[in-house]
Amino acid sequence: MRMIDIIEKKRDGQALTTDEIQFVVAGYTSGDIPDYQVSALLMAIYFQGMTEQERADLTLSMVESGDQIDLSAIEGIKVDKHSTGGVGDTTTLILGPLVAAIDVPVAKMSGRGLGHTGGTIDKLEAVPGFHVELTSDEFTKLVNEIKVAVMGQSGNLTPADKKLYALRDVTATVNSIPLIASSIMSKKIAAGADAIVLDVKTGAGAFMKDEKQARELAEAMVRIGNNVGRKTMAVISDMSQPLGFAIGNALEVKEAIDTLKGEGPEDLTELCLELGSYMVYLSEKASSLEEARQKLEHAIDNGKALERFKEFLAGQGGDESVVDNPSKLPQAEHRIELPAENAGTVSEIVADNVGTAAMWLGAGRATKDSQIDLAVGLMLDKKVGDKVEKGESLVTIYANDLSQVEKVKETLLESIKITTQKVTVPTLIVGTVT
Ligand code: URA
Ligand code: CA
Repeated sequence: MRMIDIIEKKRDGQALTTDEIQFVVAGYTSGDIPDYQVSALLMAIYFQGMTEQERADLTLSMVESGDQIDLSAIEGIKVDKHSTGGVGDTTTLILGPLVAAIDVPVAKMSGRGLGHTGGTIDKLEAVPGFHVELTSDEFTKLVNEIKVAVMGQSGNLTPADKKLYALRDVTATVNSIPLIASSIMSKKIAAGADAIVLDVKTGAGAFMKDEKQARELAEAMVRIGNNVGRKTMAVISDMSQPLGFAIGNALEVKEAIDTLKGEGPEDLTELCLELGSYMVYLSEKASSLEEARQKLEHAIDNGKALERFKEFLAGQGGDESVVDNPSKLPQAEHRIELPAENAGTVSEIVADNVGTAAMWLGAGRATKDSQIDLAVGLMLDKKVGDKVEKGESLVTIYANDLSQVEKVKETLLESIKITTQKVTVPTLIVGTVT
């Protein structure tokens, strides 16, 4: 097989065979095929697209390029949830204990990564004592007993995706639906879940700003999952404004506790119930989505979800008393309200700019060596559609480093728009793909 023939075939709009795709992925991972030829192929894919079969083949080839996590020692149908990324997205912290409370096993491998706030692990480390350094036996035992555990990423998962993603980044080929869909799904499949629930975000704070593209990506990923034997469903949700009120690590842990108590923000609660219903249904703990949702609501009402969160924290060395006493979480030294300059109705809260402001305060990493301040961040006092008086607080800034606060205030005032006209509140659940 010759790489030049494969490039030519794709350039001319023909579909590649399973063997050809495996040849490319294996050859690129080992270093036998050079960057320049793979670059040309990626650009051809960008313009010509990929068939459903090619997408499944590419995904599986990337899965097979490295280690795969074996979760077979864990009882039950393991369902993973993946979000394409947003601002102040606290859903994972809530969904873990929530679905675990009705015996859906959640075996979560998580990372730290870059972004507006830390990743799931950083957030959980706001709980004193909590750690993710578990042996695989400890991890299995915890998931079998408590039904939820989080472990740091280990092993060499999907090295082909790492290399291809880096090459796409410098060849203007990131933004291709088949390539994005295969990239995300390869990582989920290598992580070992039997079934996958996807939360595809759309709007200013999302990777897919536009709704049509978000739907296309959701459909592409659901097809790949189902075609390679992992039941997959997707929810498309709004990320034009941040989710919930909290953007920051300890602040989001507090928000998760509130939500598990049934006292959380309306949008965050709704999205967790929606995603959770799919997880419960795919794990076969309910025979319909309606029944799944009732079970979740019940677990919040009767305190089981909150109880499970305590057990989860304690299982990994965390101080579970933070749940009843959240003032034990890291606290910022300064709380600064940001008063509205005009009266009216909030018409827009540009999610990505607000996320960047939280990062400047120290809530997230700008580079991989940045130090996170778990205590800092933002609490929205208003959401889109809320009325506001002049001088009323729009958002409260939780800061330790005052040197960033002026810049943060300026950005927030530009990003939170107020109008005297009628405002339509964005729909939270834009669509689903099943
Ligand atoms: N996120 C991924 O993991 N892969 C892509 O290709 C794009 C976004
Ligand atoms: Ca939030």
